[in-house]
Amino acid sequence: MTGPPRPASGPAGPDNPDFETGDLTGWTVLSGDAFAACPAGDHATGRHGAYHLCGADRGDAARGRVRSTSWTVAHDRLGFLIGGGWDPERLYVALVRDGDGAVLCRQTGPQGDEQVRIVWDTAPHRGEQVHLEVVDDAVGEWGHLHLDDVRVGDRITDDTGLTLPLLGRANQPVTGTDADRYAADPLRPQFHYTPFQGWINDPNGLIQWRGRHHLFSQAHPAVPLWDRMHWLHASGADPVRWRNEPVALVPPPPRTPADRSGIFSGCAVDDGGVLTLIYTVFTDTVAHPGAPEEVIGLATSTDGVTFRPEPEPVVAGPPPGSAAGWRDPKVFRDPADGSWTMVVGSGDGGRGRVHLYRSADLRAWAYRGVLFEGDPSTGPMWECPDLFPIGPDWVLIESSDDRVHWWVGTYDGTRFVPRTHGVLDGGPAFYAAQHYTDDAGRPLVIGWLGRWGAREPTRVGGWAGVQSITRELFVRPDGVLGSRPVAEVASLRGAPLPVPRGDALDLVVEGDDVTLRVRESAAEATVVRYAAGRLTLDTRRSGYGDGGVWSVPALPGPVRVLVDRSTIEVFAAGGEALTARIHPRYAESTGVGVTGARALTAWPMGSAWA
Ligand code: FRU
Repeated sequence: MTGPPRPASGPAGPDNPDFETGDLTGWTVLSGDAFAACPAGDHATGRHGAYHLCGADRGDAARGRVRSTSWTVAHDRLGFLIGGGWDPERLYVALVRDGDGAVLCRQTGPQGDEQVRIVWDTAPHRGEQVHLEVVDDAVGEWGHLHLDDVRVGDRITDDTGLTLPLLGRANQPVTGTDADRYAADPLRPQFHYTPFQGWINDPNGLIQWRGRHHLFSQAHPAVPLWDRMHWLHASGADPVRWRNEPVALVPPPPRTPADRSGIFSGCAVDDGGVLTLIYTVFTDTVAHPGAPEEVIGLATSTDGVTFRPEPEPVVAGPPPGSAAGWRDPKVFRDPADGSWTMVVGSGDGGRGRVHLYRSADLRAWAYRGVLFEGDPSTGPMWECPDLFPIGPDWVLIESSDDRVHWWVGTYDGTRFVPRTHGVLDGGPAFYAAQHYTDDAGRPLVIGWLGRWGAREPTRVGGWAGVQSITRELFVRPDGVLGSRPVAEVASLRGAPLPVPRGDALDLVVEGDDVTLRVRESAAEATVVRYAAGRLTLDTRRSGYGDGGVWSVPALPGPVRVLVDRSTIEVFAAGGEALTARIHPRYAESTGVGVTGARALTAWPMGSAWA
């Protein structure tokens, strides 16, 4: 048994809270058989002890409800491990008041079988008699839930003795400033863009327009799972501070419940003072048989807030040689003749490619052929291509195989000829990057700190997806494309810390063989190393989610590390970058450790939402 000693007046929490009896002792089946065969089973990772309440044994179609014994709340916190599908209406653990059946808190799963430690604030319910109910009314894919290791106390720990912070949907405040609301979730970045609720992936429509920086995101508002794509919108007076704007683009109403039609990725341009968005209109052909799957659409705005989509597509379908897909238009004015030029991502025959178009008015587009094509090493379909000049060079980027690939070369208005090639970020979480040039002429880029299929433990808070810090691009004398955090990131810094510590930090470290540990406690740490010309990021002991080791060759010099709760972005002196999502478990994981450093400076970082 776990938790503090039980008060003489009754139990402190439910009986058999960790299912280590190996059966449902203390739990009552209210209906169905989803939990009938439990708690045997081996479906969840990160569970406690040998047994857990497993809703997967009988398959996703099984439904059921179980309840715990009752107890009188005598402590401030209740914690438990949860895994399984995300569906707050049909799949959840609830704290229920015995007297009137009121649901006091509820939590759904992370849409993953890795169990995450939820902690609720039960202080407002002290003295009330309660029980837990576990509900599985979901029958589709991910229609199952796991529960384990229920603990009550004034501080929740696990076997490490470290503190599990308040985490989960019940702790998401709905009032207060954006900065307050964004601060409440220990996994939510503070100076990176995230959606308050719901899912985001690619950054879209990046532009500085009438002075303000605009960041749109591929988004499924309210639900932290990819589905019918909208364009979420934020803007800022600089490229690191954001203010939420109304949703900019909304897909048509679904024809069937499974209709996934949506507005896919695209770009923004200023057309004579009109903010113009050009994007992929994706139609789910299961729900709309015979419709073209991908066309290119356009919407305009004169105030930068409200967007009016035009009814007809500006390009009604792909050119030949697009068997693997055709999407993600990116438009720019050709500096040579001022005409509008558009690149569109595609692929055929196992090779990614970029199609080229020209227009005088953004409405009528002439197809000009294949701008550039890869070999099989860069994947069969190129997403989010972008073509732009940096000084005398032309740069082409595209996203495929979980990476942003770049080429530096020449462009003659028809073809792109590369000179050098590489990957913009060697980590596991930098994808679908888009470039824009700001009013100061700086080539900037933002990428999605994600990867298709990655675990997203933040879903327990109702959100998933982070955009990178705005990065400035540069072409090195050796032709390599590098990136570094845009200068304004430094304006979010507080005074340098005498003792480095925190969960939102900007760090600069120097040394010939230097190791830096961040988000460190006795049980976990994220490790950055620069030695022998290599930059390495190790997230195997970073907490929940995917872990791994990533490494790139890198030039000597200061290493810059941006830590923001559940993100880490590392930049070496030559513009090499490694980015990952990390999901530390413990409140104590704010330590910074260093060995082999000639110098280390650490600044606490403020909120992007201030
Ligand atoms: C890249 C991508 C794009 C597409 C969008 C859909 O991550 O697959 O090709 O437009 O995401 O959300």
